[in-house]
Amino acid sequence: MRIIMFAGKGGVGKTSIASATGLKAAGMGYKTLIMSLDIAHSLSDIFSLNKGLMDKNKGIPVKIEDRLWIQELDIQEEIQRNWGDVHKYIASLFHKAGLDEILAEELAILPGMEEVSSLLYINRYAHEGDFDVIILDCAPTGESLRFISIPTILEWYISKIFKIERRLVSYIRPVAKRFYDVPLPEDDYFKALENLFVRLEGVDNILTDPTITTVRLVTNPEKIVLKETQRSFLYFSLYKMCIDAVVMNRILPGNIEETYFNDWKESQRRYLELAEEYFSPVPIFHVVLFQNEPLGKERLKKFGEDIYGEHDPTEHFYTERPYEFNRKDGKFFIKIKLPFLTKEEIELNRLPEEMVIRVGGFKRHIPLPRYVSAYKDVTAKTDGTYLNIIFGGNRDEKEKTQR
Ligand SMILES: Nc1ncnc2c1ncn2[C@@H]1O[C@H](COP(=O)(O)OP(=O)(O)OP(=O)(O)O)[C@@H](O)[C@H]1O
Ligand SMILES: [Mg+2]
Repeated sequence: MRIIMFAGKGGVGKTSIASATGLKAAGMGYKTLIMSLDIAHSLSDIFSLNKGLMDKNKGIPVKIEDRLWIQELDIQEEIQRNWGDVHKYIASLFHKAGLDEILAEELAILPGMEEVSSLLYINRYAHEGDFDVIILDCAPTGESLRFISIPTILEWYISKIFKIERRLVSYIRPVAKRFYDVPLPEDDYFKALENLFVRLEGVDNILTDPTITTVRLVTNPEKIVLKETQRSFLYFSLYKMCIDAVVMNRILPGNIEETYFNDWKESQRRYLELAEEYFSPVPIFHVVLFQNEPLGKERLKKFGEDIYGEHDPTEHFYTERPYEFNRKDGKFFIKIKLPFLTKEEIELNRLPEEMVIRVGGFKRHIPLPRYVSAYKDVTAKTDGTYLNIIFGGNRDEKEKTQR
C-alpha cells in the first residue's frame, strides 16, 4: 500500500501532476486510485471525462482505465453516509437560532467534515487493501494543512473533551430541557461521533508512516510560490510527514528563442538554484511548460513520462525527514542530518523567519516556526552525523520580565 499526496499553492499544477502520476502508476501495473481532496474538483475535467459518468457515480470511485479509478467526494452524499445524526443536531441548532431551514442545513456542513470524510475513505482503503496506490490531489496549501492536522486535533478532542462533554450533557440534559430552549444533543449525536472516531482510528499512523505515505510538493520557479512551498515544507515536516520529492512545474524550455521571455528565463534560473538550497537533499523533478494544456489521457501520459522518465512513480524518492524539530527543557532544537562535518566548517546565519546554514559552497535555508523567533541565543553542535541547532536562553527571561 502506498499513498502519495500532491500539495502546493493554488494553480501550480497539483491536479495535473497527480493525474499524470496516477496514470503512470496504473500503466506500470498498480491498482491505483486518484482521490480529490479539493471541493472544487477538477480531476474529471483534467481527464476530459464525460460529466454524465461522474454524475452517475457521485462520490464513489469511477473506473476510467485499466487499473485506474478516480474519486471526487460529494459532501451531500457523505453527509447521508457518515454524518447523519451529527449534521441533524447542528442543523437543528442553527434552525432554532432563527435561520431558515435550508440555510441551517447548508451551514451545518462544518469545516473539516469533508476532510474527515476523505480520511474515512483512506483508512478504509488502507485496511481493506482495495488499491495498491492512492494518490491524493490536495486543495491549495491552507486547506491541505487543515486536512493533515485533523487526526491530531481529533485525538486531542477525543482524549481530553469528548467523554467529559458526553457525560456532562447526559447529566444536565433533563434539567436544561426545562429552562433552556436550545436543544442539547441527544446521545445519538455522541454515538454517531464515537462511531466516526472508531472508523478513523489509526489513520494518523498511516499518514505519518514514511514507508506508506509521502508528500510531493508541487511548485513553480517564482518568488511567491517558492516562499509558500518553503513554508509548506516546514509545516509538513512539523506534522512529521515525509516529503519525498518537489516537482518544479512550468519551467520555460531552453529552446525558446523569443527575446520577450529573456527576463523570465533569467529569473527562473535564479529560482531553480534557490530551490536547490531550500529543498536539498529532497530531489527536485523539473517539468517544462507545455505548448498546450496537459488535458486528456494522451497528454497526461506524456506529462508523466516527462516528470518521472524511467522511474517508477511510486518509488520513495527520499526516505528521511530532512530535519526534525524538538522542544525540551525550555529549549528548541533543530536536528539535521549533515554527516562528516566539524563545527568549524558550519556557518549559521539567523534571519527573522529562517535559519541559513552554510558549509563551504553548500547552503540550506530552514524556515523557523513563528514561536522560535522569540529565542535569542543560537548555538550549534555536531556529533559527526547530525547537526543540532539549539535555540535557548532569552525566551524564558523575556517571558519572566513580561510577567
Ligand atoms: N507543465 C504545464 N504546462 C502547461 N500547462 C500546465 C502545466 N501544468 C499545469 N498546467 C495547466 O495549468 C492549469 C492549472 O493546473 P492544475 O489544475 O493542475 O493546478 P492545481 O494546482 O491543481 O490548481 P488548483 O489549486 O486550482 O487545484 C491547468 O489548466 C493545467 O492544464
Ligand atoms: Mg487542483
